[in-house]
Amino acid sequence: MAKVKFYTGESFPLEMHKVRIIQKLNLIPIEERGKAISEAGNNTFLLHNRDVFMDMLTDSGVNAMSDRQVASMMYADDSYAGSETFTRLEKSVKNFFGCKYFLPAHQGRACENVLSKVFVKKGYVVPTNYHFTTAKALITVNGGTVEELIIKEGLNIKSNLPFKGNIDIEQLKEVIKKYGSDKVAYVRMEAGTNLVGGQPFSLENLSEASKVCRANNIPLVLDASLLADNLYFNKKREEACKNMTLHEIVLKFAELSDIIYFSARKLGFGRGGGICTNNHEHFLKMRELIPLYEGFLTYGGMSVREMEAIAVGLQETLDEDMISQGPIFIDYMVKELDKRGIPVITPPGGLGCHVDAMSFLDHIPQNQYPAGALGSAFYIASGIRGMERGTLSEQRDENGDEHFSNMELLRLALPRRVFTLSQVNYAIDRLVWLYENRRLVEGLRFYEEPKILRFFYGRLEPVSGWQSKLIAKFREDFGDSL
Ligand code: F0G
Repeated sequence: MAKVKFYTGESFPLEMHKVRIIQKLNLIPIEERGKAISEAGNNTFLLHNRDVFMDMLTDSGVNAMSDRQVASMMYADDSYAGSETFTRLEKSVKNFFGCKYFLPAHQGRACENVLSKVFVKKGYVVPTNYHFTTAKALITVNGGTVEELIIKEGLNIKSNLPFKGNIDIEQLKEVIKKYGSDKVAYVRMEAGTNLVGGQPFSLENLSEASKVCRANNIPLVLDASLLADNLYFNKKREEACKNMTLHEIVLKFAELSDIIYFSARKLGFGRGGGICTNNHEHFLKMRELIPLYEGFLTYGGMSVREMEAIAVGLQETLDEDMISQGPIFIDYMVKELDKRGIPVITPPGGLGCHVDAMSFLDHIPQNQYPAGALGSAFYIASGIRGMERGTLSEQRDENGDEHFSNMELLRLALPRRVFTLSQVNYAIDRLVWLYENRRLVEGLRFYEEPKILRFFYGRLEPVSGWQSKLIAKFREDFGDSL
């Protein structure tokens, strides 16, 4: 995908695959979109997919599979114990990561549950480059805390730094000293760091973190859910990786880590997950929990069809044409928006395009959830659903006070190989319109607020009648257009 030059000098993403199965989309009129988001409590998680035109909520479990993946699902061997399908998946995972032991789990957070239950105790800490919502919730539920040690520039919206997902090594050493290494459950390094805009870490940074962990006898846990994006950026942006094959980079990552887990809803383009390690003792401790929470050791809560697809999908992750599709589309979208003055995270990362709601809606205070309000307004304007990644996605502290997020983002995920460039151009067009009309948008407030992971199913209402004003302005500008 990246290797084609254009005669006109222009450059745009070129797909190295063709579409052979399609799903019809529905774009309902703006008045109905207003009704739908209001019924969903202004929470894009609660919209019905039939009311959504482009689903940019997530890339989790919604990436397009290859013909080989779909074909592999047809010869799955369905049995509770000892299925051939599991043997194929295990072989594929072990080959991919070069590891000795593999434990299946039904998705990424299931791996996090097992890890937290085995390693985290009251008073323990997990230093991480940056938290992920489910990882943090599962660490805190087990009595631990999370220390976020991302490098300072990782939280700057605009930057040219190629590896904004790096962990601050000096701070890591300080945290270990402060708590004592026996209180550090593990160090968690997240590839393609989700909540700071899909930003990668460098191989060099992982090597340094690994050195610190090994010197202190602390396990290094790699969350490889977004490894495909991270890999692409290592290959493109890091001198030391230029002459390495993608597989050599993966194997190096694995060598530097003690435990690797992944959501196969992202890595491997299926639906499932797993944990790998070379450490027999860790393996035995974690293995105990798999039949308890996930299912027998040869399926771990996954369907055999998905396991076959993951086995193939993992191998396809070593194809640069496959892993470049997301980053190249995201690069296009981010640059087009940036050109038009719309605040987005730079440099473009993986996963999706991240709009900076704190600056887009700088008139909305954080306690009225600017990123949530932007998500609601953007759905109304376009029929596209994104995901709030800001204060709404945080948990209140033990006193019930808001924990304001470092960033207020509207994430517009680009599930891989799903959308065409014209659909991406539509998303850009509607964001440009919304930016010009941003002063019409106001905040949100909760009327139903769950205690844990409230962003999934909490409900909010607008603080004023701003949504009908936005709809009226759309009609004025677009006439009878959808
Ligand atoms: N780790 C990372 C980095 C993730 O992005 C996710 C999920 C998980 C772990 C948990 O995996 O969903 O299979 O249980 N991220 C999804 C998202 C939900 O939309 O970004 P899971």
